[in-house]
Amino acid sequence: MCFYLFLFILKTDAPLVQSIVTVEAICVSDGVAECLCETGEIVNMSAELLQQALEEDGLVMPDIEMATATGPIDLQLVSKGSEVVSVIKL
Ligand SMILES: *[C@@H]1O[C@H](CO)[C@@H](O)[C@H](O)[C@H]1NC(C)=O
Repeated sequence: MCFYLFLFILKTDAPLVQSIVTVEAICVSDGVAECLCETGEIVNMSAELLQQALEEDGLVMPDIEMATATGPIDLQLVSKGSEVVSVIKL
């Protein structure tokens, strides 16, 4: 019984959850962008995903940590479990 339950959990994908966060500071290390939100929450995401989102918004910057230099930025995130799978700069 437990075995079947385990298989079921493995086969079931985590639902996609959309959220909007206001990011006040970004710290990049090892390809992970740690984003400090207005709420005090920290959200980690792929630095590459975040850079792409900024570029699509016309913000080409070598250092994405500078994205919040002139003020907080709003990001629309899609997460699957604890992993951020999509980032859009609002
Ligand atoms: C975010 O990443 C940092 C460094 O990789 C880690 O120390 C921290 O626990 C992570 N925070 C969350 C909320 O996952």
